[in-house]
Amino acid sequence: MVKAILTFVTLVSLLWNLLVNPALAKDLDEATRTVKFDENSTIVLTPQELKNGKKLFNSACASCHSGGATFTNPNVGLDMESLKLATPPRDNLLAMIDYLKNPTSYDGEEEIYELHPSLRSSDIFPQMRGLTEQNLKEISGYVLYSAQLKGVSWGGGKVYY
Ligand code: HEC
Repeated sequence: MVKAILTFVTLVSLLWNLLVNPALAKDLDEATRTVKFDENSTIVLTPQELKNGKKLFNSACASCHSGGATFTNPNVGLDMESLKLATPPRDNLLAMIDYLKNPTSYDGEEEIYELHPSLRSSDIFPQMRGLTEQNLKEISGYVLYSAQLKGVSWGGGKVYY
C-alpha cells in the first residue's frame, strides 16, 4: 500500500515537472524578467520582486487598472504602446517610478497628483502610504513585465473616439 502511494506521488510529481513546471519556468526565465531600466539600459527583476509587485499592484492599482486597462480613461492604459507614447515616455522603470511620485497628464503638461495616487498625494490615497522605493520598483517592474509578456491582453481593448 505504502509503495503504491509512493509510486503515485512519484508519478504525479513527474507529470507536474513535465507539464506544469516548464510553463512556470518559461514565464519567469531571465529574458522574460528583463525590462527597460531607462531609455538606454535594461534591468533583470527577481521572481520575488515580481511576486511582490503583483501583490502591491492588486491592492494599490487594480481598482482602476484591472488587467492593465485604465477604468476611467481607456485611452491611457498601461499597455506598452500607451506607455511609450506618453510625454515623457513611461515605458521604463525609472520613468514609471517617477510617475508614482509625481504623476503628470499624458501630454506631460500638468501635474495630476491630486487625481492620481502618488507618494505626493498619499494623504488623499491611503494605499500609497508606507510604500518604499523598493516597493515602487516592484510595482513598476510588474507593470512593465506584464505589458511585454501579455501584449494586447494587458491594457488592450482601448476605445478610440
Ligand atoms: C483612482 C484610480 C486609479 C488608481 C487607484 C491608479 N490609477 Fe493609474 N491612472 C488612472 C487614470 C485615470 C490614468 C490616466 C491619467 C491621465 O488622464 O493621464 C492613469 C494613468 C496611469 C499611468 C500612465 C499610463 C500611460 O499610458 O501613460 C501609469 C503608469 C499608472 N496610471 C500607474 C498606476 C499604478 C502603478 C497604480 C498603483 C500604484 C495606479 N496607476 C493607480 C487611475 C488610477
